[in-house]
Amino acid sequence: MVSNRRFLTKPLYIAHRGLSSRYPENTLAAFRAAIDAGAGMIELDVTLSRDRRLVVIHDSTVNRTTNGRGRVNTLTMAQLRRLDAGSWFAERFAGEPVPSLEQVLDAVGGKVLINIEIKPEAFEPRAPHDAVERQIVEMVTERQMAADVLISSFAWRVLARIRALSANLAIGLLSELPADERLLYWFRRLDGFSWHPDYRVVSRSQVEMLQGLGARVYPYTVGGRIDTMSLLAMGVDGLIVDDPRQMAA
Ligand code: G3P
Ligand code: CA
Repeated sequence: MVSNRRFLTKPLYIAHRGLSSRYPENTLAAFRAAIDAGAGMIELDVTLSRDRRLVVIHDSTVNRTTNGRGRVNTLTMAQLRRLDAGSWFAERFAGEPVPSLEQVLDAVGGKVLINIEIKPEAFEPRAPHDAVERQIVEMVTERQMAADVLISSFAWRVLARIRALSANLAIGLLSELPADERLLYWFRRLDGFSWHPDYRVVSRSQVEMLQGLGARVYPYTVGGRIDTMSLLAMGVDGLIVDDPRQMAA
């Protein structure tokens, strides 16, 4: 049971990679704009740099969203910090840096709920002492932000490690497929808070089944008004969106 009543908002609008329809995704500018636009939660992607720091970026390479080239896990945080993560989107964002998770937590902490998505490539089966899961739990706990954070991943084994480290962090299971017995098993095993399905696989019966288990249902990534209205009519608890106009709909 989450202690932060802001999680009970319905529908909860979750700004996908920040306000990514108008700002360069996964940057502080995008997260601040999402808050200004009234998002109840921001969503961000986290993976590991070469020196095992938590970096906020979606792709496994920096090619699409920065002026650099190469795999994220071959670059140190210092190298990543020197990249321009804004110009690719629009010249007025030139110089916008790739943020670390710490920087995002410090910049928006207390102002909005935060959905941290751990990218599957950050999962290390033979976890070292400074594994991604431990870093996240410590970072959130040190800042007393546990009640503001929802951790999600397509890699459910990552989430099992989060649960082993923290009994009270909210956990969301991402899936591209409709809910099945395996999803239900993992939802119970993880003491999950929410299900984050591809919006195209959502049906009213699936929403009712998951809500019957106590799950919130937050489909991703919803782009149009017809889909938005249809999903809200199915009773979903929130929507992961790029477009701020949906928030005012
Ligand atoms: O967390 C929902 C959504 O962000 C998952 O897909 O590829 O945008 O990270 P992706
Ligand atoms: Ca994501």
